[in-house]
Amino acid sequence: MSRIVSTGSYVPEKILTNFDLEKMVDTSNEWIMTRTGIKERRIASAEQATSDLAIEAGRQAIERAGCSKEEVDLLIIATITPDMLFPSTACIVQHKLGLKQIAAFDLSAACAGFIYSLATADTLINSGGYKCALVIASETLTRITDWQDRSSCVLFGDGAGACVLKPDDDNAGFIGFDLHADGKYGDLLYQPAGGSRLPASHETVNARQHTIQMKGNEVFKVSINSMADSAESLLDKHKVKPEDIALVIPHQANLRIIRGLAKKLTIPMARVAVNIDRYGNMSAATVAVALDEAVQSGRVKQGDLILLVAFGGGFTWGSALVRL
Ligand code: ACO
Repeated sequence: MSRIVSTGSYVPEKILTNFDLEKMVDTSNEWIMTRTGIKERRIASAEQATSDLAIEAGRQAIERAGCSKEEVDLLIIATITPDMLFPSTACIVQHKLGLKQIAAFDLSAACAGFIYSLATADTLINSGGYKCALVIASETLTRITDWQDRSSCVLFGDGAGACVLKPDDDNAGFIGFDLHADGKYGDLLYQPAGGSRLPASHETVNARQHTIQMKGNEVFKVSINSMADSAESLLDKHKVKPEDIALVIPHQANLRIIRGLAKKLTIPMARVAVNIDRYGNMSAATVAVALDEAVQSGRVKQGDLILLVAFGGGFTWGSALVRL
């Protein structure tokens, strides 16, 4: 099995508050706080792309792992907002971080991307082929946000989280994963244009098809049950009781979704990580940033059992059980 030996994170300096948004669209701080729990979010500067955020988080995780860049032999970047369609953001980060000519690729699973990437890295390490994986979730969702759509533009933010995984024979590391996808829900949450189906054109730009389109309340309905079912089946499979979990780190899309999930799992909110108030929804990066915050603040410590759970576009969803 592999274990998390270190974590890191980075969020851009610029803060966009709900009061700033009141001046941009027909909304209010009160509506956003009540309906989502979000107070403010971070916005990447004009010079920053997804790879730049990833590099900051990745460098921190490598430093904290106490390993050299030469040791890293696998790089996975979870993102739906790559710098460009190709080359992958992982190739850009591999080069700029000064890593060797290692295996490096992007993984696209929207908000569940960090958990999918951890499962992939863990499996590759377990195959015996890799000894030190750098997994980064990095997003600049505000670059594909429709700033005229009040129902979605209040939700998203930018950030990156990272961790280094190494093989471990002790009783620590990833106990199990539960991963799912169902493409029948694809058009409830997607970015229609810019790929082979609808290449960029004046028409796609004019129709605002390069931004996130979301039927929020329909996503809401599916997300709580999907995350709860995934987490419950993972806990059952490994005979872990909710009271054994030191901290649940859920995807941060909406505080009401997080509370609904905690209730279904019968885990009190005191043992649930929440940072949506400060960052909004950073897609794949939310769980990764929250994990780093929990480790750095001492909220979780070595030996603790933690549950990661996420849900996003695709739909994709899943959970991971890990002993630190
Ligand atoms: N300010 C003020 N009013 C608003 C705003 C706003 N920003 N946005 C919508 N409203 C209005 C609507 O127009 C509607 O008004 P009406 O009743 O007069 O028609 C009313 O508020 C209610 O709208 P709903 O969409 O039903 O509001 P809801 O309570 O569902 O909250 C939200 C919307 C926050 C989007 C919620 O549905 C949600 O969080 N959905 C899940 C999102 C999610 O999980 N996404 C997955 C991950 S994202 C990813 O993968 C990239």
